[in-house]
Amino acid sequence: MTAVSVIGLGAMGSALASTFLDRGHAVTVWNRTPVKADPLVARGAVRAPAVADAVAAGGLVVVCVLDYAAAGAVLDEAAGALGGRAVVNLTNGTPAQARALARRMADRGARYVDGGIMAVPPMIGSPEALLLLSGDGDAFEAHRGALSGLGGLTWLGADPGHACLYDLALLAGMYGLFAGFLQATAMVGSERVAASDFLALLAPWIEAMAGLLPDLARQVDDRDYAADGGSNLAMQAVGVENILQAARDQGVGTELLEPMLSLMRRRVADGFGGDDVPGLIELIRF
Ligand SMILES: NC(=O)c1ccc[n+]([C@@H]2O[C@H](COP(=O)([O-])OP(=O)(O)OC[C@H]3O[C@@H](n4cnc5c(N)ncnc54)[C@H](OP(=O)(O)O)[C@@H]3O)[C@@H](O)[C@H]2O)c1
Repeated sequence: MTAVSVIGLGAMGSALASTFLDRGHAVTVWNRTPVKADPLVARGAVRAPAVADAVAAGGLVVVCVLDYAAAGAVLDEAAGALGGRAVVNLTNGTPAQARALARRMADRGARYVDGGIMAVPPMIGSPEALLLLSGDGDAFEAHRGALSGLGGLTWLGADPGHACLYDLALLAGMYGLFAGFLQATAMVGSERVAASDFLALLAPWIEAMAGLLPDLARQVDDRDYAADGGSNLAMQAVGVENILQAARDQGVGTELLEPMLSLMRRRVADGFGGDDVPGLIELIRF
């Protein structure tokens, strides 16, 4: 089995290293604060004295630290050992950061795959954990087996920035959902309704609205925003104005939804009040 090195042993890196041990890999670990390696060493991992030793030991080198500044710094420290290594960087960052680090790795002779982890640490090793990966396809194919021990894999092609882009886009969808949840529960909370009680109404409503996403996606792809469902934007803008006014009346903040109302007003003012909500993307899209 592939010898794996894991660099960065925070909550996520420790879960990755632990799962590689579970799968039977020889695992070498390195962390800036060495004591965090102790539980893994107790389970059979080898503690590398320096990050370059960890890079040299791994047929597959997995990096998972706080951000790209840290990832770049630790990989620079190991520059002399990078030639011929396959580096899979699972640190969260932007596409531009991933592309820049990929160039630096290529300059040092490493084969570089970038990745995003759509999971929390306890999910690592289960099929529900999703890893988005892009970059050097040969390195990915060579280590697909080892990586698949961490969760489900989605390969996104040769651009090392794509894994980060998809990762952040999925998180953007999640934070939009969380924003709606917080606004809704704050509003009913102003009348002392517990969020967990309100979920009996909110959760099925959100699930029903999620069922509209294929239609919304079609409108976005076709750039045809006709309000076929009978819910035109001008009407919906009035509804969102009412949401924000009701929030204010109840003593609840409006910051989460104000940007949405502002885009709706602009789009209506531009003459698209008869269209549907997906037309708002014309105001923000590339
Ligand atoms: N936890 C999650 O739910 C989750 C989910 C998906 C993706 N991720 C991503 O996984 C990555 C790691 O997250 P985490 O939860 O493991 O974070 P964490 O528990 O806060 O650990 C951060 C890690 O980064 C290291 N680090 C920070 N700055 C460093 C530097 N300048 N030089 C060297 N090492 C440095 C830390 O080393 P020390 O121990 O020495 O401080 C530690 O190993 C992040 O990019 C995060 O976005 C996390």
